[in-house]
Amino acid sequence: MEVFCPLSSFIGETMKAVQFSRYGGPEVLEIVEVDPPHPGPGELRIRVRAAGVNPSDWKRREGQYRAFEEISFPSGVGVEASGIVDEVGPGVSSAFVGDAVFGYGRATMAEHAILTHWVHKPDDLPFEIAGGLPVISETAWRSLDELDVKAGEALLVSGAAGGIGSAVIQLARVRGITTIGTASPQKHDYLKDLGAIPTAYGLGLAQRIRQLAPNGIDAALDVAGSGIIPELIAITGDPARVLSVADFSAEEYGAKFSRGPPRGPERVLADVARLYSKGLFRLHIERSFPLEQTAEAQVISAAGRVTGKLIISP
Ligand SMILES: NC(=O)c1ccc[n+]([C@@H]2O[C@H](COP(=O)([O-])OP(=O)(O)OC[C@H]3O[C@@H](n4cnc5c(N)ncnc54)[C@H](OP(=O)(O)O)[C@@H]3O)[C@@H](O)[C@H]2O)c1
Repeated sequence: MEVFCPLSSFIGETMKAVQFSRYGGPEVLEIVEVDPPHPGPGELRIRVRAAGVNPSDWKRREGQYRAFEEISFPSGVGVEASGIVDEVGPGVSSAFVGDAVFGYGRATMAEHAILTHWVHKPDDLPFEIAGGLPVISETAWRSLDELDVKAGEALLVSGAAGGIGSAVIQLARVRGITTIGTASPQKHDYLKDLGAIPTAYGLGLAQRIRQLAPNGIDAALDVAGSGIIPELIAITGDPARVLSVADFSAEEYGAKFSRGPPRGPERVLADVARLYSKGLFRLHIERSFPLEQTAEAQVISAAGRVTGKLIISP
């Protein structure tokens, strides 16, 4: 049973949080004791149960987003989480203290964090999975929408075994789209289980695709960002049907690039939670880490071999 701390119990109390005070490698991450945050208008605070690790966490820490995103130091880490509401901001009437929720927020790798966009978590959706759903679900959903892939069409996903790829395969299957996904050979059974036709990436991709999809590929999604936009355009025959979420050069070739921040992601999160409850969507958690091992989790994420998702459980 969940034990709630009344707000008054935080007066004078601190919480553990992951922070960094300068750009750099994983060594700049610190576990600090800070005052718990309080939600602003339209926000919630949760007792965090699980926070998803995303490549954006370590890219932001390394300063890769410096050109287009200002951060003030010390900065928290993490953009998504699940947990139990323990404080409700002004104007919020759709959630109450004690509710189980998941969604987008800030500095979510902490014992308590603010959520800015959330939905209620169904009882059958574990906190650990819910905390890793927001970014991959919204990105996968948005990519399929922007590529305008229709039922009966064939989609190629480059980088299918990671978080976004895993979500795309399953959402595409629900929409009646056939997916061919690339991953290293030891992950091909994983892709098949999710509903994709697997193939290896690297030399000879176009030839392998011709054999697997003799009627051609209608659209291609680049999740891996491995520099193959021209090859994906050649495979689809139309730059307008190639979209990347990871390769900023895509638009130079006439392909699309899709970026956040998410606008109104609540509908997607609620739909994905419903698909989970119906057994039509799952998320493989490769590993869960305590808050103190956030740096190790980021190192593993940055190595680029994660299958499914990594989670921090404070
Ligand atoms: N634009 C946006 O809105 C947006 C939103 C969220 C994330 N992103 C970006 O999207 C990218 C993917 O995120 P993610 O969470 O899915 O990452 P992830 O879970 O860390 O992806 C890891 C997977 O990538 C695969 N991979 C690595 N190199 C590959 C290659 N050359 N070809 C095919 N697959 C390869 C790996 O499979 P193997 O081990 O088999 O190689 C691994 O399973 C990141 O760059 C992230 O920053 C963009």
